[in-house]
Amino acid sequence: MLIDTHTHFYDEWLLPDAEAAIARALEAGVGKMVQADVDSRERDALWALSDAHPGVLYPMLGLYPGSVDDHWEDEIERLLPYRDRGIVAIGEIGLDYHEGTQFKEQQKEALRVQLDLAARWDLPVNIHLRDAWEDLLAILKEKRYLGLRGNLHCFSGSYEVFREAGRYADLSVGIGGVITFKKASLAETVKHIPLEKIVLETDAPYLAPVPHRGERNESAYLPLIAAKLAEQKGITLEEVEEATTRNAEQLFKL
Ligand code: NI
Repeated sequence: MLIDTHTHFYDEWLLPDAEAAIARALEAGVGKMVQADVDSRERDALWALSDAHPGVLYPMLGLYPGSVDDHWEDEIERLLPYRDRGIVAIGEIGLDYHEGTQFKEQQKEALRVQLDLAARWDLPVNIHLRDAWEDLLAILKEKRYLGLRGNLHCFSGSYEVFREAGRYADLSVGIGGVITFKKASLAETVKHIPLEKIVLETDAPYLAPVPHRGERNESAYLPLIAAKLAEQKGITLEEVEEATTRNAEQLFKL
């Protein structure tokens, strides 16, 4: 069994087909899937699916950096009632300057507050990052006393960044479809990252692996990512499956 540690069945692109997509994932050997939260607008849809598939779909809770604006503090308030509802991580949270830096300071503050929340609730963090390595490392360094654990979702950074982030928190990396892209340096980088620090993910409906690149992604494509990881590491698919499933079960307590 494989585990998809980051997916969004409730996303409007995938939602009309979500039940069929869940069935296809199970058919493909993907037995557990963790749904990353984005913000309050789509949270009801996330929970409706999670409640309908106990033991298969597991919910995270968090405010996505791309959803941070001047109202971010209200959004954080809306997270609090979910504390005892079986969430497996605080995520996806982080920094994303790709679409602009208008709310950069708000993003940083929302991240700090949610890292504190993860420590207080004793949950791992699922970190989204785009064009903001320096600020992320600075905040992780500042918060290192919290003793956080979690993973860097959709990892595409260098081995050095992985190493430095690991000094401030117990972090693994989420390897997704990018590993199958022709020009991605990630395929080389994963050779240096220890297998016990790797979990698999699709980030469906985005970032579909080759040969589906550019199409709608879904958890059923996870075996393509596992196969590429096995190839790059020179190990068997069974070894990838065994290690990444164990890592995901331990990290998220699935
Ligand atoms: Ni995501």
